[in-house]
Amino acid sequence: MTEFVGSALTMVQILSAVLVFLLGLGILAVIFMYLVDVNQKTHTIRRNFPVIGRFRYLFEKLGEYFRQYFFAQDREEMPFNRAQRTWVYRAAKGFDNTVAFGSTRDLRPVGTMIFVNCPYPVLEADIAPTSTVKIGPYCKQPYATNSLFNVSAMSFGAISKPAVQALSKGSKKAGNWMNTGEGGLSPYHLEGGADIVFQIGTAKYGVRNLDGSLSDEKLREVSGHEQVKMVEIKLSQDAKPGKGGILPGGKVTKEIAKIRGIEVGADSISPNRHPDIGSADDLLNMIHRVRDVTGKPVGFKSVIGAYGWLDELFDLISERGIESAPDFITVDSGDGGSGAAPMSLVDNVGLPLRESLPLVVDMLVRHGLKDRVKVIASGKMVTPAEAAWALCVGADFINSARGFMFSLGCIQALQCNMNTCPTGITTHDKKLQGGLDVTNKAERVYQYSKNMHKEIGVLAHSCGVKEPRRLQRFHCRVVQDNGRSVPLDVLYPNRTSDQAA
Ligand SMILES: Cc1cc2nc3c(=O)[nH]c(=O)nc-3n(C[C@H](O)[C@H](O)[C@H](O)COP(=O)(O)O)c2cc1C
Ligand code: SF4
Repeated sequence: MTEFVGSALTMVQILSAVLVFLLGLGILAVIFMYLVDVNQKTHTIRRNFPVIGRFRYLFEKLGEYFRQYFFAQDREEMPFNRAQRTWVYRAAKGFDNTVAFGSTRDLRPVGTMIFVNCPYPVLEADIAPTSTVKIGPYCKQPYATNSLFNVSAMSFGAISKPAVQALSKGSKKAGNWMNTGEGGLSPYHLEGGADIVFQIGTAKYGVRNLDGSLSDEKLREVSGHEQVKMVEIKLSQDAKPGKGGILPGGKVTKEIAKIRGIEVGADSISPNRHPDIGSADDLLNMIHRVRDVTGKPVGFKSVIGAYGWLDELFDLISERGIESAPDFITVDSGDGGSGAAPMSLVDNVGLPLRESLPLVVDMLVRHGLKDRVKVIASGKMVTPAEAAWALCVGADFINSARGFMFSLGCIQALQCNMNTCPTGITTHDKKLQGGLDVTNKAERVYQYSKNMHKEIGVLAHSCGVKEPRRLQRFHCRVVQDNGRSVPLDVLYPNRTSDQAA
């Protein structure tokens, strides 16, 4: 009996020792993973959330096997589904983006785009470089670029310092422009050396007098930077037409307040309209003034809802002369993104790009202005097919905000308005920003832009044209509610073709 108790005790002691050993090993492993995670620079989530951040990657991997039983399907999530985000993540990392076995996309839903391949696609040897477009032919300093896909407006304030730095550096390497957004021009925009589009929002941050009116002197100073190539007057933006920008007080740091010309820590609320732009006359006057002061191309950005005002504007341009026209119009989709916006405006105001882009292009063609006024399209175009659709419709350029956010590592946590962004993109919390390594993410911005350009080209060549700018409406079909696809030139027949096939 004593012998049995003795051996049982020894057994318990051995088991306890093994347990303590395993526990110790586990703790050592956690410490090791912690050290690896905080010191690596590739994954923001692991850097910001050492050890537990690893579960995200594990679940993502396991999701491939389990999501068919438990979770949302590849193409179900909003605003961007997993298939779209995965494409961007892989493009940004420079990974192979080919898929195995076949498309997981159901080609039957209404609105599905189908490009019409040519029986004789363009031979690799015959591929032409993307043509250069000149914007602002009547300016002292017109802007010429062949970049199709560019960084849409996101202000320093809505996004963090390292995010702006990475976008600036990556854009320079890729050769695309970056729009400052309405928060003014910061040193971080200039740091990487990329071409800049300076945006004037309704509060005229960065170029305002104390009373909020436009300061010609400050505008001259900002546009004096060689890197600033164009100026965009924001009339409205996708997610919140008719509402000014809201930058929560928590995000208004000393530095941001200085750049914008506002008070530290107070909510930064811009007016819901430019107080000095209330008619077509006012708009053309402002465009003329800004172009005169800066000598650079000037355009405006707007979400399209009502559109009679465009006819009025274009008629007025005919009266005043072709030089008076905006050099570009940025057509923003009603379902675009924002750092913070009221839900009723996000969800229910403004036409989606699918309706507004053909409408604006056709109006420009009808008024004989399509060559004079370049069209920039923005709104949920994060993969090559969406961008190619916009080119088919008649856009000259595509802008993306959220596509580039994904390339910076955004995981669509939807907390951009709370200063708690886990990936350091839309927060001014230094600890969270610490996870966003500028050099690493700049490379991803570059890779994403490069791969977008490359694959838009692949689609164009498959359709039989030598370069993307030659895409026409008949190259893209859209599935209708009877299940059959119809080409864009039948859906939107007004446009008289003004590009060589
Ligand atoms: C974080 C964030 C900040 C933004 N800030 C601005 C801004 O300052 N000015 C502006 O015109 N648009 C702003 N936008 C809108 C984008 O420029 C773009 O028009 C919109 O998100 C649609 O493009 P997307 O679908 O590629 O994101 C912002 C968007 C996001 C997500
Ligand atoms: S990770 Fe979330 S909070 Fe950060 S930018 Fe993306 S959506 Fe916004």
